[in-house]
Amino acid sequence: MKAVVYKGRLEVAVEEVADARIEEPTDVLVKITSAAICGSDLHMYEGRTAALPGTVLGHEPLGLVEEVGSAVERVKKGDRVVMPFNISCGTCFNCIRGYTAACLNVNPSAHGGAYGYVGMGPFRGGQAEHLRVPFADTNCLKLPGEPRDMFENDFVLLADVFPTGCFAADLAAVEPGMSVAVFGAGPVGLLAAYASALRGADEIYVVDYVPDRLARAEAMGATPIDLSRGDPVEQIIALRRARGTATAKMDGVMSGIEAVGFQAIDWADPSHEEPNRVLEDLIRLVNPTGHIGIVGLYVPEDPGGKNPHAKKGEIQISFGKLWEKGISFGTGQTPVMRYSARLRDLVTSGRARPSQVVTHRLPLDAAPEAYAKLSRREDGYAKVLLDPHM
Ligand SMILES: NC(=O)c1ccc[n+]([C@@H]2O[C@H](COP(=O)([O-])OP(=O)(O)OC[C@H]3O[C@@H](n4cnc5c(N)ncnc54)[C@H](O)[C@@H]3O)[C@@H](O)[C@H]2O)c1
Ligand SMILES: [Zn+2]
Ligand SMILES: [Zn+2]
Repeated sequence: MKAVVYKGRLEVAVEEVADARIEEPTDVLVKITSAAICGSDLHMYEGRTAALPGTVLGHEPLGLVEEVGSAVERVKKGDRVVMPFNISCGTCFNCIRGYTAACLNVNPSAHGGAYGYVGMGPFRGGQAEHLRVPFADTNCLKLPGEPRDMFENDFVLLADVFPTGCFAADLAAVEPGMSVAVFGAGPVGLLAAYASALRGADEIYVVDYVPDRLARAEAMGATPIDLSRGDPVEQIIALRRARGTATAKMDGVMSGIEAVGFQAIDWADPSHEEPNRVLEDLIRLVNPTGHIGIVGLYVPEDPGGKNPHAKKGEIQISFGKLWEKGISFGTGQTPVMRYSARLRDLVTSGRARPSQVVTHRLPLDAAPEAYAKLSRREDGYAKVLLDPHM
C-alpha cells in the first residue's frame, strides 16, 4: 500500500510499504478516506524529536471498516469510523478512569500509545491507504453517513484537534462569561477558541502572526492579536482596559490556553525560538486565581534545542509568580475518547462545524509539498487532509 513515510529532517516521501493487515483477533482493517496532517507531525518533520526514519506517519484517521478480526464484536464490515489518535485497551486502570491517553496495555515502552508517533509504540500511521486498528471495539467511533459526505471534514477532526480544543478549554476551566486568551492560531488554537465560544466564554483573544489564521479566529468571533506588533500580553491588557472589562488587580484574563508547543517563536525577535515564551506570557497574563491549559506539545528529548536544557525538555518558567497568583495549570495529551462521541453528536445536529479550520483536501501524493508548506506556516495553509484514494 502507499503511505507517507518520515525520511529525516524536512523530508517525507509517499512510498510503497507492506500492506496493513489484521494481526490480532481484536483488530480491524480500515480503508482510509481522510487522514489529517497535525502540528504534532511537524515537530517530527522538523527533526525536533527522536522519530526514526521509516516511521509511517498519521494519527488522525477516518475511514470504512474493510475487514474484521475474529474476536471483534461491536464493529462490522462497512462501518464508517474515526479513530482517536490515542490507542487504548479500554480495560486498564487508566482507561477505565477515562485517561485513555495513558493506557497501560498498548505500548510496551511507556504509558500511552498512538498511530505513527515517536515514542508512542509500534503502531503505523494512518496517512496511508489502510490502517490496522488494535482493540477495535474500543478504538473505533461509529459515524453516520457516507464517505466524503458533508461531514467528512468535520468527522476527521474528531480524531484529535476538536477534542484537543475542548480539552484545552477544560484544563483552562473556561466557563460562561469568562475571558480567555489562546496562544497559537493553528487548528488546535482555533478549535480551542471555538470550544471556548461553544461554552459561552465572553471575551476570547487569539494570538499568532499568520494573517489567514488570525482572520479565521476573527471569523469565529474572537479578537485577533498579532504578535508581530509587539508584546501580546500588553496588547490584550490594553484592549481589556479600553473595553472597560479590566478591573483593578485583574486586568488580564481568567483562562489561558497554550496551543503552540516547545517551538514557540519569540515575539521580541520572531526569527528566534524561545521555548518558554508562551508559558511566561501566560503566567504574566492570567489573573490571580485563574487557570492555564497547556495542550501544545513539549518533548523530553529535543535534538534541535537551543541549549543543553532545551535539548532535555527542561523549560525555565517563573514558578514563583505562578504560585503567588494561585494559578492552576493542566497539561498533557488529550484523552480523545472522553470527548469524541459527544462532539460527533454536536456535528451531526449541526451545532458545531469544526471543519472551518480545514484549508486543503489533497491526494496522498501531495503530502511532501503539504508538509513543507505547513512547516513554513505558509499563509492560507492551516489544516490539510489527505485522501489516499482520491
Ligand atoms: N495535547 C495534545 O494531545 C495535542 C493534540 C494535538 C496537537 N497538539 C500540539 O498542539 C500544538 C498546536 O498544534 P497545531 O496543529 O495547531 O499546530 P500549528 O503548528 O499549526 O500551530 C501553532 C501556531 O502557533 C503559532 N505560534 C508560534 N509561536 C507563537 C507565540 N509565541 N505565540 C503565539 N502563537 C505562536 C504559529 O504561528 C502557529 O500558527 C502543537 O504543539 C501540537 O503538537 C497537542
Ligand atoms: Zn494530531
Ligand atoms: Zn488501557
